[in-house]
Amino acid sequence: ALKDETVVVVLGASGDLAKKKTFPALFALFAQGLLPKDVHIVGYARTKMDEAEFHKRETQYLKGDDSKIEEFKKISSYISGQYDGDEGFQELLKHLEKLEGDRKTKNRVFYMALPPSVFTTVAKGLKKNVYSEDGINRIIVEKPFGKDLESCREMMSELKAQWSENETYRIDHYLGKEMVKNLLILRFGNVFLDAAFNKNFVSNVQITFKEPFGTEGRGGYFDEFGIIRDVCQNHLLQTLSILAMERPVSFSAEDIRDEKVKVLRSIPAIAQKDVLLGQYVGEGDKPGYLDDDTVPKGSVCPTFAAMTLWVNNPRWEGVPFIMKAGKALNESKVEIRVQFKDALQGIFTDIPRNELVMRIQPSEAVYLKMNAKLPGFATRAVPTELDLTYKKRFVDTNIPQAYEALILDAFKGDHSNFVRDDELDVAWKIFTPILHWIDGKDAPKPEPYPYGSRGPKQIDEFTSKYGYKRSPQEYSWPQTSAS
Ligand code: BG6
Repeated sequence: ALKDETVVVVLGASGDLAKKKTFPALFALFAQGLLPKDVHIVGYARTKMDEAEFHKRETQYLKGDDSKIEEFKKISSYISGQYDGDEGFQELLKHLEKLEGDRKTKNRVFYMALPPSVFTTVAKGLKKNVYSEDGINRIIVEKPFGKDLESCREMMSELKAQWSENETYRIDHYLGKEMVKNLLILRFGNVFLDAAFNKNFVSNVQITFKEPFGTEGRGGYFDEFGIIRDVCQNHLLQTLSILAMERPVSFSAEDIRDEKVKVLRSIPAIAQKDVLLGQYVGEGDKPGYLDDDTVPKGSVCPTFAAMTLWVNNPRWEGVPFIMKAGKALNESKVEIRVQFKDALQGIFTDIPRNELVMRIQPSEAVYLKMNAKLPGFATRAVPTELDLTYKKRFVDTNIPQAYEALILDAFKGDHSNFVRDDELDVAWKIFTPILHWIDGKDAPKPEPYPYGSRGPKQIDEFTSKYGYKRSPQEYSWPQTSAS
Protein backbone atom coordinates (compact mmCIF):
# COMPACT_ATOMS: atom_id res chain seq x y z
CA ALA A 1 0.00 0.00 0.00
CA LEU A 2 1.06 3.56 -0.60
CA LYS A 3 1.28 5.06 2.85
CA ASP A 4 3.61 7.94 2.28
CA GLU A 5 5.88 9.70 -0.18
CA THR A 6 3.57 9.60 -3.15
CA VAL A 7 2.99 11.94 -6.03
CA VAL A 8 -0.31 11.77 -7.86
CA VAL A 9 -0.17 13.05 -11.40
CA VAL A 10 -3.52 13.89 -12.97
CA LEU A 11 -3.19 13.80 -16.74
CA GLY A 12 -5.87 15.81 -18.49
CA ALA A 13 -6.01 18.14 -15.51
CA SER A 14 -7.80 20.91 -17.37
CA GLY A 15 -10.68 18.69 -18.49
CA ASP A 16 -14.14 18.00 -17.19
CA LEU A 17 -13.54 14.61 -15.60
CA ALA A 18 -10.60 15.93 -13.58
CA LYS A 19 -12.51 19.00 -12.47
CA LYS A 20 -15.77 17.28 -11.59
CA LYS A 21 -14.62 13.90 -10.31
CA THR A 22 -10.89 13.40 -9.82
CA PHE A 23 -9.98 16.54 -7.85
CA PRO A 24 -13.11 16.46 -5.67
CA ALA A 25 -12.41 12.82 -4.81
CA LEU A 26 -8.75 13.51 -4.06
CA PHE A 27 -9.76 16.47 -1.95
CA ALA A 28 -12.37 14.50 0.02
CA LEU A 29 -9.74 11.88 0.81
CA PHE A 30 -7.24 14.57 1.71
CA ALA A 31 -9.72 16.31 4.02
CA GLN A 32 -10.41 13.02 5.81
CA GLY A 33 -6.70 12.37 6.22
CA LEU A 34 -6.85 9.34 3.93
CA LEU A 35 -4.27 10.29 1.33
CA PRO A 36 -0.72 9.02 1.80
CA LYS A 37 1.45 11.22 4.02
CA ASP A 38 3.64 13.74 2.18
CA VAL A 39 1.48 13.54 -0.88
CA HIS A 40 1.76 15.91 -3.82
CA ILE A 41 -0.77 16.38 -6.56
CA VAL A 42 0.43 17.46 -9.97
CA GLY A 43 -1.88 18.43 -12.79
CA TYR A 44 -0.66 17.94 -16.35
CA ALA A 45 -2.39 19.02 -19.55
CA ARG A 46 -1.79 20.87 -22.78
CA THR A 47 -3.50 24.09 -21.71
CA LYS A 48 -1.03 26.74 -20.68
CA MET A 49 -2.01 28.36 -17.41
CA ASP A 50 -0.35 29.64 -14.30
CA GLU A 51 -0.69 28.06 -10.90
CA ALA A 52 -3.40 30.49 -9.76
CA GLU A 53 -5.56 29.67 -12.76
CA PHE A 54 -5.00 25.96 -12.21
CA HIS A 55 -5.94 26.21 -8.54
CA LYS A 56 -9.10 28.03 -9.51
CA ARG A 57 -10.11 25.21 -11.82
CA GLU A 58 -8.95 22.50 -9.49
CA THR A 59 -11.04 23.76 -6.60
CA GLN A 60 -14.12 24.80 -8.56
CA TYR A 61 -16.20 21.79 -7.47
CA LEU A 62 -14.70 21.16 -4.05
CA LYS A 63 -16.97 21.05 -1.06
CA GLY A 64 -15.56 21.69 2.37
CA ASP A 65 -13.69 23.86 4.72
CA ASP A 66 -11.94 26.89 3.19
CA SER A 67 -8.84 26.29 5.23
CA LYS A 68 -8.67 22.67 4.02
CA ILE A 69 -9.06 23.87 0.46
CA GLU A 70 -6.14 26.25 1.01
CA GLU A 71 -4.04 23.36 2.33
CA PHE A 72 -5.05 21.30 -0.68
CA LYS A 73 -3.88 24.04 -3.01
CA LYS A 74 -0.53 24.07 -1.26
CA ILE A 75 0.12 20.43 -2.15
CA SER A 76 -1.06 20.90 -5.74
CA SER A 77 0.87 22.20 -8.71
CA TYR A 78 0.57 22.25 -12.48
CA ILE A 79 2.73 21.60 -15.51
CA SER A 80 1.62 22.10 -19.08
CA GLY A 81 2.97 20.01 -21.89
CA GLN A 82 2.18 17.98 -24.96
CA TYR A 83 0.80 14.47 -24.90
CA ASP A 84 3.12 13.22 -27.62
CA GLY A 85 6.89 13.42 -27.76
CA ASP A 86 9.21 13.29 -24.77
CA GLU A 87 9.71 16.95 -24.08
CA GLY A 88 6.65 17.61 -21.96
CA PHE A 89 7.14 14.45 -19.93
CA GLN A 90 10.78 15.35 -19.33
CA GLU A 91 9.58 18.66 -17.88
CA LEU A 92 7.11 16.74 -15.77
CA LEU A 93 9.88 14.48 -14.56
CA LYS A 94 12.00 17.44 -13.52
CA HIS A 95 9.07 18.84 -11.61
CA LEU A 96 8.41 15.53 -9.85
CA GLU A 97 12.06 15.16 -8.91
CA LYS A 98 12.01 18.62 -7.41
CA LEU A 99 8.97 17.74 -5.31
CA GLU A 100 10.43 14.40 -4.30
CA GLY A 101 13.74 15.93 -3.22
CA ASP A 102 15.89 13.33 -1.56
CA ARG A 103 13.13 10.83 -0.86
CA LYS A 104 14.33 7.27 -1.00
CA THR A 105 11.10 5.87 -2.35
CA LYS A 106 9.51 7.70 -5.19
CA ASN A 107 6.00 6.39 -5.60
CA ARG A 108 4.03 7.71 -8.53
CA VAL A 109 0.36 7.34 -9.32
CA PHE A 110 -0.79 8.43 -12.76
CA TYR A 111 -4.46 9.22 -13.13
CA MET A 112 -5.49 9.35 -16.77
CA ALA A 113 -8.42 11.75 -17.10
CA LEU A 114 -7.85 11.84 -20.84
CA PRO A 115 -9.74 11.51 -24.10
CA PRO A 116 -9.26 8.07 -25.65
CA SER A 117 -7.43 9.47 -28.67
CA VAL A 118 -4.30 10.27 -26.64
CA PHE A 119 -4.58 7.51 -24.11
CA THR A 120 -2.00 5.03 -25.29
CA THR A 121 0.40 7.73 -26.45
CA VAL A 122 0.44 9.19 -22.96
CA ALA A 123 0.74 5.79 -21.31
CA LYS A 124 3.83 5.16 -23.44
CA GLY A 125 5.29 8.61 -22.83
CA LEU A 126 4.89 8.20 -19.10
CA LYS A 127 6.47 4.80 -19.04
CA LYS A 128 9.39 5.96 -21.08
CA ASN A 129 10.06 9.23 -19.29
CA VAL A 130 8.44 9.40 -15.90
CA TYR A 131 8.40 5.83 -14.59
CA SER A 132 9.89 5.63 -11.13
CA GLU A 133 12.77 3.22 -10.74
CA ASP A 134 12.77 3.66 -6.98
CA GLY A 135 9.24 3.01 -5.93
CA ILE A 136 5.76 1.91 -6.82
CA ASN A 137 4.11 3.03 -10.07
CA ARG A 138 0.40 2.83 -10.70
CA ILE A 139 -1.72 3.92 -13.61
CA ILE A 140 -5.44 4.56 -13.26
CA VAL A 141 -7.40 4.48 -16.49
CA GLU A 142 -11.02 4.85 -17.40
CA LYS A 143 -13.43 4.08 -20.23
CA PRO A 144 -13.85 4.21 -23.13
CA PHE A 145 -11.76 1.09 -23.52
CA GLY A 146 -12.20 0.87 -27.26
CA LYS A 147 -15.46 0.71 -29.14
CA ASP A 148 -15.78 -3.01 -29.69
CA LEU A 149 -13.95 -6.24 -28.99
CA GLU A 150 -11.25 -5.68 -31.55
CA SER A 151 -10.44 -2.05 -30.76
CA CYS A 152 -10.46 -2.85 -27.06
CA ARG A 153 -8.00 -5.68 -27.53
CA GLU A 154 -5.77 -3.43 -29.56
CA MET A 155 -5.80 -0.74 -26.92
CA MET A 156 -5.27 -3.19 -24.08
CA SER A 157 -2.32 -4.83 -25.74
CA GLU A 158 -0.70 -1.45 -26.37
CA LEU A 159 -1.19 -0.55 -22.74
CA LYS A 160 0.04 -3.91 -21.53
CA ALA A 161 3.24 -3.56 -23.47
CA GLN A 162 4.07 -0.70 -21.09
CA TRP A 163 2.20 -1.31 -17.87
CA SER A 164 1.74 -4.61 -16.07
CA GLU A 165 -1.70 -5.80 -15.02
CA ASN A 166 -0.62 -5.32 -11.44
CA GLU A 167 0.20 -1.65 -12.04
CA THR A 168 -3.02 -0.99 -13.96
CA TYR A 169 -6.27 0.08 -12.32
CA ARG A 170 -9.20 0.17 -14.74
CA ILE A 171 -11.98 2.23 -13.26
CA ASP A 172 -15.64 1.51 -13.71
CA HIS A 173 -16.98 3.97 -11.22
CA TYR A 174 -20.12 1.89 -10.62
CA LEU A 175 -17.91 -0.56 -8.77
CA GLY A 176 -17.23 2.18 -6.25
CA LYS A 177 -20.89 2.80 -5.49
CA GLU A 178 -21.98 1.76 -2.05
CA MET A 179 -24.96 -0.32 -3.12
CA VAL A 180 -22.98 -2.16 -5.78
CA LYS A 181 -20.36 -3.01 -3.19
CA ASN A 182 -23.14 -4.10 -0.87
CA LEU A 183 -24.29 -6.80 -3.31
CA LEU A 184 -21.72 -9.30 -2.12
CA ILE A 185 -22.78 -8.99 1.51
CA LEU A 186 -26.47 -8.92 0.73
CA ARG A 187 -26.34 -11.99 -1.38
CA PHE A 188 -23.90 -14.18 0.44
CA GLY A 189 -24.38 -12.91 3.97
CA ASN A 190 -28.11 -13.66 4.05
CA VAL A 191 -29.23 -17.26 3.91
CA PHE A 192 -32.75 -16.47 2.83
CA LEU A 193 -31.57 -14.42 -0.14
CA ASP A 194 -28.84 -16.80 -1.09
CA ALA A 195 -31.36 -19.65 -1.09
CA ALA A 196 -33.85 -17.81 -3.26
CA PHE A 197 -31.48 -16.34 -5.80
CA ASN A 198 -31.93 -18.80 -8.63
CA LYS A 199 -34.19 -19.90 -11.45
CA ASN A 200 -36.53 -21.81 -9.13
CA PHE A 201 -37.65 -18.66 -7.39
CA VAL A 202 -36.73 -15.69 -9.56
CA SER A 203 -38.93 -14.83 -12.51
CA ASN A 204 -36.92 -11.96 -13.96
CA VAL A 205 -34.36 -9.32 -13.08
CA GLN A 206 -34.22 -5.71 -14.20
CA ILE A 207 -31.31 -3.35 -13.97
CA THR A 208 -32.49 0.15 -14.71
CA PHE A 209 -30.55 3.34 -15.33
CA LYS A 210 -32.53 6.54 -15.80
CA GLU A 211 -31.29 10.07 -16.22
CA PRO A 212 -33.60 13.06 -16.45
CA PHE A 213 -31.31 15.05 -18.76
CA GLY A 214 -30.26 14.61 -22.37
CA THR A 215 -26.85 14.87 -23.96
CA GLU A 216 -26.96 18.66 -24.16
CA GLY A 217 -23.49 19.93 -24.82
CA ARG A 218 -21.85 16.55 -25.17
CA GLY A 219 -23.89 15.29 -28.10
CA GLY A 220 -20.86 15.19 -30.38
CA TYR A 221 -19.02 12.86 -28.04
CA PHE A 222 -22.08 10.82 -27.22
CA ASP A 223 -23.05 10.19 -30.82
CA GLU A 224 -19.91 8.20 -31.42
CA PHE A 225 -20.75 5.88 -28.55
CA GLY A 226 -24.47 5.71 -27.83
CA ILE A 227 -26.14 4.64 -24.62
CA ILE A 228 -25.05 1.00 -24.85
CA ARG A 229 -21.34 1.84 -24.83
CA ASP A 230 -21.87 4.72 -22.46
CA VAL A 231 -23.45 2.82 -19.59
CA CYS A 232 -24.69 -0.69 -20.46
CA GLN A 233 -21.55 -2.49 -21.60
CA ASN A 234 -19.66 -1.22 -18.56
CA HIS A 235 -21.63 0.10 -15.56
CA LEU A 236 -24.71 -2.08 -15.87
CA LEU A 237 -22.90 -5.21 -16.94
CA GLN A 238 -20.48 -4.88 -14.03
CA THR A 239 -23.45 -4.60 -11.72
CA LEU A 240 -25.07 -7.61 -13.33
CA SER A 241 -21.94 -9.71 -12.98
CA ILE A 242 -21.80 -9.21 -9.21
CA LEU A 243 -25.51 -9.75 -8.90
CA ALA A 244 -25.41 -13.03 -10.78
CA MET A 245 -22.01 -14.52 -9.94
CA GLU A 246 -21.38 -17.51 -7.69
CA ARG A 247 -20.00 -17.14 -4.20
CA PRO A 248 -16.30 -16.26 -4.42
CA VAL A 249 -13.76 -18.36 -2.54
CA SER A 250 -12.68 -15.23 -0.64
CA PHE A 251 -12.99 -11.47 -0.79
CA SER A 252 -9.64 -11.20 -2.54
CA ALA A 253 -9.53 -9.35 -5.84
CA GLU A 254 -8.67 -12.36 -7.96
CA ASP A 255 -11.25 -14.63 -6.36
CA ILE A 256 -13.99 -12.07 -6.92
CA ARG A 257 -12.94 -11.31 -10.45
CA ASP A 258 -12.61 -14.99 -11.31
CA GLU A 259 -16.29 -15.43 -10.45
CA LYS A 260 -17.30 -12.34 -12.38
CA VAL A 261 -15.51 -13.55 -15.47
CA LYS A 262 -17.03 -16.97 -15.11
CA VAL A 263 -20.58 -15.71 -15.01
CA LEU A 264 -19.95 -13.28 -17.86
CA ARG A 265 -18.63 -16.10 -19.97
CA SER A 266 -21.90 -17.94 -19.61
CA ILE A 267 -23.80 -15.02 -21.16
CA PRO A 268 -24.13 -15.36 -24.93
CA ALA A 269 -23.94 -12.31 -27.18
CA ILE A 270 -27.17 -10.31 -27.04
CA ALA A 271 -29.62 -11.21 -29.80
CA GLN A 272 -31.21 -8.58 -32.03
CA LYS A 273 -34.66 -9.78 -31.06
CA ASP A 274 -33.91 -9.02 -27.42
CA VAL A 275 -33.25 -5.34 -28.05
CA LEU A 276 -35.46 -2.25 -27.98
CA LEU A 277 -33.84 1.07 -28.91
CA GLY A 278 -35.04 4.61 -28.48
CA GLN A 279 -34.04 8.19 -29.16
CA TYR A 280 -35.58 11.19 -27.45
CA VAL A 281 -37.41 13.90 -29.31
CA GLY A 282 -38.18 17.46 -28.20
CA GLU A 283 -40.99 18.07 -25.77
CA GLY A 284 -42.12 21.54 -24.67
CA ASP A 285 -38.99 23.64 -24.26
CA LYS A 286 -36.76 20.57 -24.04
CA PRO A 287 -34.75 19.85 -27.19
CA GLY A 288 -34.70 16.52 -28.96
CA TYR A 289 -31.45 14.61 -29.42
CA LEU A 290 -31.23 15.62 -33.08
CA ASP A 291 -31.75 19.31 -32.26
CA ASP A 292 -28.23 19.43 -30.83
CA ASP A 293 -25.94 21.07 -33.40
CA THR A 294 -23.05 18.80 -32.46
CA VAL A 295 -25.09 15.71 -33.40
CA PRO A 296 -24.87 14.60 -37.06
CA LYS A 297 -28.11 15.10 -38.98
CA GLY A 298 -30.35 12.06 -39.06
CA SER A 299 -28.24 10.15 -36.53
CA VAL A 300 -29.79 6.85 -35.41
CA CYS A 301 -27.70 6.76 -32.26
CA PRO A 302 -29.73 5.25 -29.42
CA THR A 303 -30.19 7.35 -26.28
CA PHE A 304 -32.31 4.59 -24.80
CA ALA A 305 -31.83 0.85 -24.87
CA ALA A 306 -33.57 -2.11 -23.29
CA MET A 307 -31.88 -5.45 -23.74
CA THR A 308 -32.35 -8.90 -22.34
CA LEU A 309 -29.36 -11.01 -21.39
CA TRP A 310 -29.43 -14.72 -20.60
CA VAL A 311 -27.14 -16.41 -18.17
CA ASN A 312 -26.65 -19.99 -19.26
CA ASN A 313 -25.60 -21.66 -16.07
CA PRO A 314 -27.41 -23.99 -13.68
CA ARG A 315 -28.41 -21.16 -11.36
CA TRP A 316 -29.93 -18.78 -13.87
CA GLU A 317 -30.85 -20.65 -17.05
CA GLY A 318 -34.07 -19.22 -18.45
CA VAL A 319 -34.19 -16.15 -16.20
CA PRO A 320 -34.20 -12.95 -18.25
CA PHE A 321 -31.89 -10.19 -17.07
CA ILE A 322 -33.39 -7.05 -18.53
CA MET A 323 -31.09 -4.05 -18.79
CA LYS A 324 -32.67 -0.67 -19.41
CA ALA A 325 -30.84 2.61 -19.76
CA GLY A 326 -31.89 5.98 -21.03
CA LYS A 327 -31.15 9.67 -21.16
CA ALA A 328 -33.84 12.38 -20.99
CA LEU A 329 -36.28 10.21 -19.06
CA ASN A 330 -38.83 11.11 -16.40
CA GLU A 331 -36.59 10.68 -13.38
CA SER A 332 -33.11 10.09 -12.04
CA LYS A 333 -32.78 6.55 -10.75
CA VAL A 334 -30.56 3.49 -10.88
CA GLU A 335 -31.88 0.30 -9.38
CA ILE A 336 -31.86 -3.47 -9.51
CA ARG A 337 -35.23 -5.17 -9.29
CA VAL A 338 -35.42 -8.89 -8.72
CA GLN A 339 -38.95 -10.13 -9.26
CA PHE A 340 -39.79 -13.48 -7.73
CA LYS A 341 -42.23 -15.98 -9.14
CA ASP A 342 -45.93 -16.06 -8.24
CA ALA A 343 -46.88 -17.44 -4.86
CA LEU A 344 -48.67 -20.74 -5.32
CA GLN A 345 -52.22 -20.04 -6.34
CA GLY A 346 -55.13 -21.98 -4.92
CA ILE A 347 -55.76 -20.18 -1.69
CA PHE A 348 -54.71 -16.98 -3.39
CA THR A 349 -55.84 -15.48 -6.57
CA ASP A 350 -53.82 -12.71 -8.01
CA ILE A 351 -51.54 -11.96 -5.09
CA PRO A 352 -48.68 -9.58 -6.04
CA ARG A 353 -45.21 -10.96 -6.49
CA ASN A 354 -42.34 -10.41 -4.10
CA GLU A 355 -39.77 -8.03 -5.41
CA LEU A 356 -36.39 -7.22 -3.99
CA VAL A 357 -35.29 -3.75 -5.03
CA MET A 358 -31.78 -2.48 -4.53
CA ARG A 359 -31.67 1.22 -5.20
CA ILE A 360 -28.20 2.31 -6.19
CA GLN A 361 -29.10 5.99 -6.47
CA PRO A 362 -30.33 8.44 -5.49
CA SER A 363 -30.78 7.70 -1.81
CA GLU A 364 -29.54 4.14 -1.32
CA ALA A 365 -32.13 1.64 -0.18
CA VAL A 366 -32.99 -2.02 -0.19
CA TYR A 367 -36.61 -2.98 0.08
CA LEU A 368 -38.51 -6.19 -0.30
CA LYS A 369 -42.10 -6.08 -1.42
CA MET A 370 -43.91 -8.54 0.72
CA ASN A 371 -47.52 -9.50 1.23
CA ALA A 372 -49.04 -9.30 4.68
CA LYS A 373 -52.47 -9.63 6.13
CA LEU A 374 -54.36 -6.41 6.24
CA PRO A 375 -54.87 -5.81 9.96
CA GLY A 376 -58.49 -6.27 10.98
CA PHE A 377 -61.15 -8.95 11.15
CA ALA A 378 -61.07 -10.03 7.57
CA THR A 379 -58.34 -12.15 5.98
CA ARG A 380 -57.06 -10.08 3.15
CA ALA A 381 -53.54 -9.72 1.80
CA VAL A 382 -51.96 -6.36 1.16
CA PRO A 383 -48.62 -5.59 -0.42
CA THR A 384 -46.20 -4.09 2.13
CA GLU A 385 -42.46 -3.83 2.36
CA LEU A 386 -39.43 -4.59 4.47
CA ASP A 387 -37.52 -1.39 4.13
CA LEU A 388 -33.87 -0.57 4.59
CA THR A 389 -33.51 3.07 3.65
CA TYR A 390 -29.93 4.08 4.34
CA LYS A 391 -30.75 7.62 5.43
CA LYS A 392 -33.00 6.27 8.15
CA ARG A 393 -30.93 3.29 9.21
CA PHE A 394 -27.40 4.69 8.97
CA VAL A 395 -28.18 8.14 10.20
CA ASP A 396 -24.78 9.75 10.68
CA THR A 397 -22.83 7.59 8.30
CA ASN A 398 -20.96 9.21 5.47
CA ILE A 399 -21.38 7.28 2.25
CA PRO A 400 -18.25 7.87 0.18
CA GLN A 401 -18.55 8.95 -3.42
CA ALA A 402 -17.63 6.23 -5.91
CA TYR A 403 -14.42 7.92 -7.05
CA GLU A 404 -13.26 8.44 -3.47
CA ALA A 405 -13.70 4.78 -2.67
CA LEU A 406 -11.90 3.69 -5.82
CA ILE A 407 -8.97 6.06 -5.60
CA LEU A 408 -8.45 4.97 -2.01
CA ASP A 409 -8.50 1.34 -3.15
CA ALA A 410 -5.90 2.14 -5.78
CA PHE A 411 -3.64 3.64 -3.12
CA LYS A 412 -4.12 0.54 -1.03
CA GLY A 413 -3.29 -1.66 -3.97
CA ASP A 414 -6.65 -3.40 -3.83
CA HIS A 415 -7.84 -4.45 -7.28
CA SER A 416 -11.18 -5.98 -6.24
CA ASN A 417 -13.24 -3.06 -7.47
CA PHE A 418 -11.32 -2.55 -10.69
CA VAL A 419 -11.92 -4.25 -14.00
CA ARG A 420 -9.52 -7.00 -14.99
CA ASP A 421 -8.43 -7.34 -18.62
CA ASP A 422 -10.30 -10.59 -19.23
CA GLU A 423 -13.52 -9.09 -17.82
CA LEU A 424 -13.31 -6.36 -20.39
CA ASP A 425 -12.78 -8.86 -23.15
CA VAL A 426 -15.82 -10.94 -22.32
CA ALA A 427 -17.93 -7.82 -21.73
CA TRP A 428 -17.21 -6.72 -25.28
CA LYS A 429 -18.01 -10.19 -26.64
CA ILE A 430 -21.51 -9.89 -25.24
CA PHE A 431 -22.17 -6.50 -26.82
CA THR A 432 -20.09 -6.31 -29.98
CA PRO A 433 -22.51 -8.09 -32.36
CA ILE A 434 -25.47 -5.82 -31.59
CA LEU A 435 -23.21 -2.76 -31.61
CA HIS A 436 -21.99 -3.62 -35.09
CA TRP A 437 -25.57 -4.11 -36.18
CA ILE A 438 -26.53 -0.71 -34.75
CA ASP A 439 -23.49 0.99 -36.32
CA GLY A 440 -23.90 -0.77 -39.64
CA LYS A 441 -25.95 0.05 -42.71
CA ASP A 442 -28.89 -2.07 -41.56
CA ALA A 443 -29.06 -0.06 -38.37
CA PRO A 444 -32.48 -0.29 -36.76
CA LYS A 445 -34.28 3.01 -36.42
CA PRO A 446 -34.67 3.87 -32.73
CA GLU A 447 -38.19 4.43 -31.45
CA PRO A 448 -38.86 8.07 -30.63
CA TYR A 449 -39.78 9.02 -27.07
CA PRO A 450 -40.55 12.45 -25.69
CA TYR A 451 -37.94 14.14 -23.49
CA GLY A 452 -38.99 13.54 -19.89
CA SER A 453 -41.09 10.42 -20.56
CA ARG A 454 -40.60 6.80 -19.39
CA GLY A 455 -39.00 5.87 -22.72
CA PRO A 456 -40.41 4.41 -25.95
CA LYS A 457 -44.05 3.39 -25.67
CA GLN A 458 -43.11 -0.23 -26.38
CA ILE A 459 -41.22 -0.52 -23.08
CA ASP A 460 -43.99 -2.10 -20.99
CA GLU A 461 -44.74 -4.61 -23.66
CA PHE A 462 -41.03 -5.38 -23.83
CA THR A 463 -40.63 -6.12 -20.12
CA SER A 464 -43.87 -8.08 -19.90
CA LYS A 465 -42.73 -10.24 -22.80
CA TYR A 466 -39.99 -11.46 -20.45
CA GLY A 467 -42.39 -12.19 -17.65
CA TYR A 468 -42.28 -8.99 -15.64
CA LYS A 469 -45.61 -8.28 -13.94
CA ARG A 470 -46.24 -4.74 -12.87
CA SER A 471 -47.38 -4.29 -9.27
CA PRO A 472 -51.02 -3.41 -8.75
CA GLN A 473 -51.70 0.26 -9.38
CA GLU A 474 -52.43 1.11 -5.76
CA TYR A 475 -49.01 -0.02 -4.54
CA SER A 476 -46.04 2.25 -4.41
CA TRP A 477 -43.03 2.12 -2.15
CA PRO A 478 -43.68 4.75 0.54
CA GLN A 479 -40.15 6.14 0.35
CA THR A 480 -40.52 7.09 -3.29
CA SER A 481 -42.02 10.45 -2.46
CA ALA A 482 -39.92 10.91 0.68
CA SER A 483 -36.55 10.38 -0.99
C1 BG6 B 1 -20.72 7.95 -17.26
C2 BG6 B 1 -21.41 8.21 -18.56
O1 BG6 B 1 -19.82 6.90 -17.40
O2 BG6 B 1 -21.67 7.63 -16.27
C3 BG6 B 1 -22.41 9.33 -18.39
O3 BG6 B 1 -20.47 8.55 -19.56
C4 BG6 B 1 -23.35 9.03 -17.26
O4 BG6 B 1 -23.15 9.53 -19.59
C5 BG6 B 1 -22.58 8.66 -16.01
O5 BG6 B 1 -24.12 10.19 -17.03
C6 BG6 B 1 -23.50 8.20 -14.90
O6 BG6 B 1 -22.79 8.12 -13.71
P1 BG6 B 1 -23.54 8.41 -12.35
O7 BG6 B 1 -22.52 8.15 -11.31
O8 BG6 B 1 -24.00 9.83 -12.41
O9 BG6 B 1 -24.69 7.46 -12.29
